[in-house]
Amino acid sequence: MKDRIAEVVASSLGIVTSELLLEIPENQDFGDYTTSIAMRAFADKSLLEKLPESVRDSKDPYDLASSLVVFLEEKTDLLNYVEKILAIKPGFINIWLKDEILVDNLIHISKKHYYYGSSDIGRNKRVVIDYSSPNIAKRFSIGHLRSTIIGQSLYNIYEFLGYKVIGDNHLGDWGTQFGKLIYMLKRHPLESVTVEGLEKLYVKYHQLAKGEEKEKMDFEARAWFAKLEKGVPMAREIWRKCVSISMREFNRIYDLLGVSFDMMMGESRYSNVLKRLLKNKHFLSYLSEGEGGAKIIDLQEYGIKTPLMFLKSDGTTTYAARDLACIYYRIRRFEPHVIIYEVGKEQTLHFKQVFAAARKLGWAGDSIILHHTAHGLYLSPSGKKFSTREGDVVNLEEVLKEAIRKAGEIINSSKTARDIPEKDLERITNDIGIGAIKYFDLKHAVGSDIVFDWNKILDLKGNSGPYIQYTFARTNSVLEKAKEKGFIVKDLEYCDIEVLRLDLTDEERDIARLLFHFGEFVKKAAVDFSPKVICDYLFALCQRYNSFYDKYPILKEKNSKKKMFRLKLTEDIGWVIRNGLRLLGIEVVERM
Ligand code: ARG
Repeated sequence: MKDRIAEVVASSLGIVTSELLLEIPENQDFGDYTTSIAMRAFADKSLLEKLPESVRDSKDPYDLASSLVVFLEEKTDLLNYVEKILAIKPGFINIWLKDEILVDNLIHISKKHYYYGSSDIGRNKRVVIDYSSPNIAKRFSIGHLRSTIIGQSLYNIYEFLGYKVIGDNHLGDWGTQFGKLIYMLKRHPLESVTVEGLEKLYVKYHQLAKGEEKEKMDFEARAWFAKLEKGVPMAREIWRKCVSISMREFNRIYDLLGVSFDMMMGESRYSNVLKRLLKNKHFLSYLSEGEGGAKIIDLQEYGIKTPLMFLKSDGTTTYAARDLACIYYRIRRFEPHVIIYEVGKEQTLHFKQVFAAARKLGWAGDSIILHHTAHGLYLSPSGKKFSTREGDVVNLEEVLKEAIRKAGEIINSSKTARDIPEKDLERITNDIGIGAIKYFDLKHAVGSDIVFDWNKILDLKGNSGPYIQYTFARTNSVLEKAKEKGFIVKDLEYCDIEVLRLDLTDEERDIARLLFHFGEFVKKAAVDFSPKVICDYLFALCQRYNSFYDKYPILKEKNSKKKMFRLKLTEDIGWVIRNGLRLLGIEVVERM
């Protein structure tokens, strides 16, 4: 509906929908939709001149908004489905839908169930999402947790909108650090065959590489990486071992998180593409000589002062070269409309360079959206950066297990959780613990830093995963009680629309309105690359339902039509929470 109204309003006013900026106000007092077009047009002459002549000589933004309202009422069919359009000071135009549209939608929700809120706007379009992408021989850090969680959620959201999504784990399995590691592994036996063991060996390399020794060691390590790039079997063999030790641990974390990928094309997989590029005359014509004989791609015409380094002076490839080969491969293989890189903000320059180079080389046309999400960091409760270097080591697997343990405490102290059957207990505890971690990550704006705080992660009263899951469990228990009392769910599913067309209380309308907007928020989450949009939405919905629940009778309501309506609302809220959480990669629990 949002797209339709935006289209009708914008085209009748002679502008495009991106100029109209139709929004959904938080509070229904300000309409179901609103636009600030009058205020903006009043301040911007070029925009004003696009509007119909009859409205142009207004004395202030409110006056302009009022004339636009009259124009819309006369010249469009909006009033067929819109209850009212009002100009509001200082110059907003607010639009309210007819109640019957909101009520009809309640039937629609339970018919569409799992698909409610989905769409086919992505039909025949492909999106590649690069996420998680941890580094081999290093522990899976809390930094990669963000990428894993946000990336998976964006995957779910785009898929729900009909896009063909390709999820790729771009493992950091190549680079000069492997030369150092091979150097060490040739001399020092591994203390323990774990990623931690590999990481320690790498640290030891840097402890040993001091003074004169350093030059010798670095020289040899570089030689090992060069051998690796050439495919020398002994180097390959050691490297492969590092990869398999690491993947064993990473897969445990993916299992805990319930995350999976369509492909895991690590950096190492692009050596053939790189070889081919380095033989391609057209490509070579873009390379120029950098400092010390390095090969670079100049990007000044894109306003980027630092060129992209493609080959180091010793002829080995760089991280950027591998990303460039990768983008070339992705564009040719998938013809994507969007490529999303779910990577931290510390790599902002890197992605600017890679994107600009892909444009300069003519690989990525203007129609392809290249997006780097640039997520923020996790900060420790003391506000410091979580890092492995400062010894402030955070073992991710331990963090996840701790979340599950704490979820167990919630369950133990909950009265309503008492009748959870023994066989479901472990699953439910897992889903609450992991859900809490995921939700806490996703509810923050992607770009902002996050202070890790157990109290907030598990806060049953605030904006948290357990709170949303709890609200779902509540809708579930209301429906179960209704069933016990002989209320037939089928009746609810196919109930007569007329039964629902009652006078709505403000709270009922407010909930019906939010339910109506669900699909529109899903689209916004995709366009903004922001699962937070869905968290905010779910939190608002759950708060509304919980205060409704406290204020109004549902099963005890005497008027049977009202009762039916409230049960329907309850059922639909359940569907929308379920679908919303699924997009965030979080399971619902039927009891807690
Ligand atoms: N492995 C990299 C790191 O940990 C992230 C890779 C992100 N993806 C990419 N295409 N560069 O820093």
